[in-house]
Amino acid sequence: MIPKEIIEEIRYRSDIEEVIGSYVTLKRAGSNRNGLCPFHSEKTPSFTVFPATKSFYCFGCGAGGDVITFTQKIENLDYVAALELLATRAGITIPNEPSAGGTPTVSRKRIYEMNLEAARFFRSSLFDPVLGREAMTYLVENRRLSGATIKRFGLGFAPNDFSMLTTHMRRAGFSEEELIQGFLSKRSQRGTLFDLFRNRIMFPVIDTAGNIVAFGGRVMDDSKPKYLNSADTPGFKKSRILFGLNYAKDHCAEELILCEGYMDTIAMQAAGFQNAVATLGTAITQEHARLISRYTKRVIINYDSDEAGQKAADKAMLLLDEVGLPVRVLKLTGAKDADEFIKRFGNDAFYSLLKNSNSAFDFKMEKVLAKYDLGAAEGKLRAARELTALIAATHSSVERELYLRAAAERLGISAESLGNDVARARARQAREARKKESRELQLSARNFGDRVNPDAAKEPATAAAEDVLLGLCLAFPEHRKACATGEVNVTAEDFYTGFGKRAFVALTEAENSADGFSFSALGAIFTPDEMGRLVKLQREREMLQNNGREVLLLAVEALHTQRRTREAKATGDWQGELAMRRAQMKKKNDSK
Ligand code: CTP
Ligand code: MN
Repeated sequence: MIPKEIIEEIRYRSDIEEVIGSYVTLKRAGSNRNGLCPFHSEKTPSFTVFPATKSFYCFGCGAGGDVITFTQKIENLDYVAALELLATRAGITIPNEPSAGGTPTVSRKRIYEMNLEAARFFRSSLFDPVLGREAMTYLVENRRLSGATIKRFGLGFAPNDFSMLTTHMRRAGFSEEELIQGFLSKRSQRGTLFDLFRNRIMFPVIDTAGNIVAFGGRVMDDSKPKYLNSADTPGFKKSRILFGLNYAKDHCAEELILCEGYMDTIAMQAAGFQNAVATLGTAITQEHARLISRYTKRVIINYDSDEAGQKAADKAMLLLDEVGLPVRVLKLTGAKDADEFIKRFGNDAFYSLLKNSNSAFDFKMEKVLAKYDLGAAEGKLRAARELTALIAATHSSVERELYLRAAAERLGISAESLGNDVARARARQAREARKKESRELQLSARNFGDRVNPDAAKEPATAAAEDVLLGLCLAFPEHRKACATGEVNVTAEDFYTGFGKRAFVALTEAENSADGFSFSALGAIFTPDEMGRLVKLQREREMLQNNGREVLLLAVEALHTQRRTREAKATGDWQGELAMRRAQMKKKNDSK
């Protein structure tokens, strides 16, 4: 366990606005900040950061919590790993404590140490005149890489053997559990470990802080799979890493070249295009797009000329447009990818290709125009319809205006009538987007409710009273204190739902502890989704006018009544229950 004062220090030194702002574009909204929620897809911002209470909450999907919860969710980490990440970011050292029992997840730091040692091993295997002869020949002769480039990218070779790496790593002090979690070794049926990467060229994946976060291993012939990649580990989430960004980050402020693979990126950077990066064997994600938008102003997509590459390019254009980045697309002819193109035609040819790359719109427009016979009215009409949809989907009005003119000219139609169609298409798209968004929200809200507090559906009235009480205790220290000290007569047994009970126990125990209550410390007990619920209860309470002691007492009374009903039912005390119901009815009638 990380000591509580360290947790508080991490939270104190991790400015929530700054941390969240590095993932989400935030806009000022009064004393709060607004943005598009990174946890569900939306077009209108319902994600809010509250600097005053150091918390965030999405009114759309219910995600919420503090800076630690946010880091857990966005980086896909557990509580401790999120704390470690924030600590590193804030320059705080977490004291090392021996873990007690079980198999805890290996820390990020340890994974990096392990990968560094493995990279050293792969590299000396590559440079070994016997062991690495074939691999070195492949890199130098087939792939035309220089010694300097091989070293710069830390390339290596995993020998054709089942145990060399594992043995080396065990000697270097890494445990079997660590090697398994780090995706370097696997346990065989017989129970011994074996090397996962064998007879492959090894590409270390290095993050912008210089840590080796993963490996990609390529075969040297046509066998399958062509690449083997580290699975996501505590130090590594594929959808958040770009290969080559560790170097490109200093050269891409104006423009970034997005490639498909390891070899393209290396070839491009070696040829002097140092602003080249690649996603890792996955299509580009929203997270990638946001990451890219933090480093550059423009993107050139440089994907393979095959069909798969072009499809991926379409998706990339869409996602990059969403984060507001202008995109151009490179048209490769005479080669299947940039690596091959540069080898065949040289750097200068590639440079002129870059300069003449089409805007994303031109690229798509040419594709549409090529599909139809523009000499015939029918063909023209269909092309116009497709281009209208394309233009309508463009966010910037300046760009729409430019595209409209270009398209009208190519089609030989007036820009005015094409513009009318675009306006209609935009209205329709907006309507559909709103519908889709609300549909998704309803779905996610339903699932969300079920996941966090599944018992609520069985006794909605009790759950509602629990929510009121918890909300009051979260938002107002005086109510929390009154419940924790017993000044108000309510105990964990008065709660019906599992979640409500746990939350009440956690709140009152924290209040009574020597350190006192801290919202962040709740992250050790509750999942990010549960943290989101707690923030929701707190926020909803704060937005109401009436939050005095009388409201608390009403909630407590409701819990007591419902508990008595439950207990009466459980003991089969029908008379008792009947009496109770009668009393309730009477009360209702009296108040009418
Ligand atoms: N990739 C992968 N797994 C595969 C195939 C591809 O992870 N089985 C990923 C790799 O990151 C690779 C990228 O997709 O770099 C692009 O694939 P491809 O064009 O096939 O590979 P290149 O890196 O271009 O390799 P080469 O030029 O040697 O063919
Ligand atoms: Mn390729």
